[in-house]
Parts: sequence; structure tokens; C-alpha cells
Amino acid sequence: MQPARYDRFSVVLHWLMAVLIMGQVALGLWMIGLPKDGSSLRASWFNVHKSWGMVLGLLVVLRLAWALLRPRVAALPQARHLRLAASGAHRLLYALMLAVPLSGLFGSVFSGYPIRFFGMQLPKIAGRWDAAKELLSGVHQVSALALVLLIALHVLAFLYHQLVLKDALLQRMR
Ligand code: HEM
Ligand code: HEM
Repeated sequence: MQPARYDRFSVVLHWLMAVLIMGQVALGLWMIGLPKDGSSLRASWFNVHKSWGMVLGLLVVLRLAWALLRPRVAALPQARHLRLAASGAHRLLYALMLAVPLSGLFGSVFSGYPIRFFGMQLPKIAGRWDAAKELLSGVHQVSALALVLLIALHVLAFLYHQLVLKDALLQRMR
């Protein structure tokens, strides 16, 4: 029989990533406004963003692998179009949670600057390539915006379940 709720590991990953993603978006938007004045302030916050971004990239790979390996959670008993919308939105959330850190990482690879993971310098896999850096920066920005919009929709859907349908959806994810 399919489980009616998410297992503990999925729940922990869901809430841990939710907090980290929101912090990471706020940090990304804030740090790009820091002055390019030659001080190390901007570079050090960029390094913090890159490090946590890589942690998020690893976490989403782990989460996706687990989502494919664990027994499938039973779909909510709700209208077919809502079920399809929910599974489509969840797939898109996973795709964006993967696309955002990947575009950030490869954009940084082609920027020519060394990449540090919490202080540890990673091996340089490519040299500076401005056109690729610019394209990937654009993808990073647009995919991060799409992720934020989809998360807002996800929370609205949650509120609709909680306040209108009153079907205790949250019990499945706690
Ligand atoms: C960064 C923010 C968030 C992201 C990226 C996210 C992503 C996801 C994903 C991908 C799923 C599907 C899990 C799966 O089937 O493997 C899910 C389920 C769920 N999320 Fe979120 N979530 C976020 C924040 C929130 C918040 C703030 C709430 C509530 C206030 C919430 C409530 C839920 C609930 C109740 C489910 C279970 C839905 C079901 O039973 O089918 N999420 N979330
Ligand atoms: C889930 C993970 C991530 C999220 C949610 C995220 C989010 C953001 C956001 C919202 C911005 C500001 C966008 C703008 O207006 O330009 C930004 C900028 C940036 N992010 Fe990320 N990011 C993530 C992962 C990463 C990773 C893994 C790296 C590199 C290893 C990275 C490198 C950068 C850089 C260098 C910028 C400055 C703008 C640019 O040059 O593209 N990010 N990020």
C-alpha cells in the first residue's frame, strides 16, 4: 500500500531546503548591491552565497534521488485537474531547484574567478569566457525569479487547502 504521508527524511529535507532557499534568495539580491570598491566585502559575501548554493545543489540531488527511491506517496484524493496541477508544480519546483544552482555554478566557473567552498579553493575546470558567463548569469537570475514565483504559488495552494478545503494537507509534510 502507498504511504499517505511523507517519510521523516523527506520532511526534514523539505523544511531545511525551504529555509535555506529563502535565505539564499535574500542573500543573492542583497549582495549584488554591494559596492565594487576593491574591498573584500563583496567577494566574501559572494563566496558565502556560492558555498551555500553548492550545498543546496547537493541537497537537491540527494532529495531527487530519495524521491525516486522511496515508496511513492499516495496522491491526495482531490479533483483530477488539481492532482495534475500539483504534480506538475512539484516537478517544476524540482527542475528549478536544480537549474538555479547549476547555472550559478557554471556562470561562476566561466567568470574566471576562483571558486571557494567554505574557504577551500576548488580546482579550476575552465578559463574565463565572458559570453557564457553572461548567458548563465541571465539563466540564474530568471530561474531564481521563476523559483520564487512558483514557491509563492505553492504557498497559496497550501493556504487554499488549509483554509478553504480544510483537508489537513500539512499533516502529510510534518
Ligand atoms: C522554498 C520553499 C519550498 C519549496 C522549494 C517546496 C517544495 C516542495 C516540493 C518539491 C514538494 C513535493 C514533494 C514531493 O512530492 O517529493 C512539496 C510538498 C509540500 N510542501 Fe513545499 N516547498 C516549499 C515551501 C513550503 C511552505 C512554506 C509550505 C507551507 C507553508 C509548504 C508545504 C508543503 C506541503 C504541505 C507539501 C505536501 C503536498 C502533498 O501532500 O502533496 N512548502 N514542497
Ligand atoms: C538554490 C541555490 C541558489 C539560489 C536560490 C540563488 C539565488 C540567487 C539570486 C536571487 C541572485 C540575485 C540575482 C540577480 O539579480 O542577479 C543570485 C546571484 C548570484 N548567484 Fe546565486 N543562487 C543559488 C546558487 C548559486 C550557486 C551554486 C552559485 C555559484 C557557485 C551562485 C552564484 C551567484 C552569483 C555569482 C551571483 C551574482 C550575479 C551573477 O553574477 O550571476 N548562486 N543568486
